[in-house]
Amino acid sequence: MKERIPFAKISISENEEQEIIACLRSGWITTGPRVAAFEKAFAEFVGCEDAVAVSSGTAALHLSLMTLNLSPGDEIITPSLTWVSVPNLITLMGAKPVFCDVDSQTLNIDCVDLERRITPQTRAIVPVHFAGRPCNLAKIRELAASHGLVVIEDACHAIGAKFDNIRIGSHSPLCAFSFHPNKNMTTAEGGMLTGNDRERLRKARLLRFHGVSRDTFQRIGLGSLPHYESIFPGLKYNMTDLAASIGMHQIKKVASFNAARSVLVCAYQEALSSLTEVLWLAPPNSGEDHTHAWHLFNVCVRDEEGLRERVMQSMLDNGVQIGLHYSPVHLMESMRIHGRMPHLPVTERIGRTIMSLPLFPDMTIVQVERVVHLLRKAL
Ligand SMILES: Cc1ncc(COP(=O)(O)O)c(C=O)c1O
Repeated sequence: MKERIPFAKISISENEEQEIIACLRSGWITTGPRVAAFEKAFAEFVGCEDAVAVSSGTAALHLSLMTLNLSPGDEIITPSLTWVSVPNLITLMGAKPVFCDVDSQTLNIDCVDLERRITPQTRAIVPVHFAGRPCNLAKIRELAASHGLVVIEDACHAIGAKFDNIRIGSHSPLCAFSFHPNKNMTTAEGGMLTGNDRERLRKARLLRFHGVSRDTFQRIGLGSLPHYESIFPGLKYNMTDLAASIGMHQIKKVASFNAARSVLVCAYQEALSSLTEVLWLAPPNSGEDHTHAWHLFNVCVRDEEGLRERVMQSMLDNGVQIGLHYSPVHLMESMRIHGRMPHLPVTERIGRTIMSLPLFPDMTIVQVERVVHLLRKAL
């Protein structure tokens, strides 16, 4: 019987289990004291004054974009080598995603291409910290400041990553995290919005719950009169106390999860170093002042028709789950409504050749060796 190696696996222990039971027994399972405690702990972790817990990373990104008050024709620059969330949200909000290419080594936004794509219609830049490697926020901040643009970081991969020795989460006006089970920490589904723009965060907090001044806990849970006011039309993206029961404990462990990920990546890099003629490996950490969160470990095969699919199939047939991050969004059917799309040579080549190898904190070195052995065989 072949050992099956999953692509990702959650690390949950008795702390989370006990907290969930305590939450259930308390009788209060929707947004309440556990969400407040989780927000406080997360804000402290990233070094931010405030953090807004929501139902997903996509919700955090949607609320961020809503603070821009977008109008038709507005443009937002974002990479195409990403999950579909941001391009979809921009499209649904009646604005236009302007896709820009990525750097061939970091797979993060290419700042030269980014600058070229700024127009009078551009309102914001949404960089993605690809795989958990921090983007060049200094350059992005400089470009944003000189053109009057808002930066919204898609930090769904980057919990615990650092740029200039400061954790991702407080560098830009808004920064969105995801707690999907594949991410560096989880709440089953969930997300968090942080940043240094207190006014936008305050607005996002209101938009998270219908744009209403007091949520259910504030109206009912605190034993006061249940009156409320709707300040502007909002959504229902609040996190539940049940989800926060998991998050409260995961946030205490995420630094150690990331350390375990980093050790596994070193093992991958060493074991794969003899294959660099035929395989591109995600390069090591980008420097002392920048810390990679290693949400993903990516490799690229040679750009040969069908090679990546054959390698993936062979791994799958041998019980190893492989991830695909990402198929370029600008080539997707959903983006056709925006008309002609740019040619993004690096993104398109990476999109044809990239795959993500299994990586999770409880993975063993023996499992890394097995993945490498099977990859070598498949190649
Ligand atoms: C880069 C990126 N952005 C946004 C998201 C959306 O996060 P969620 O699944 O929590 O909505 C994800 C999740 O996969 C992601 O990887």
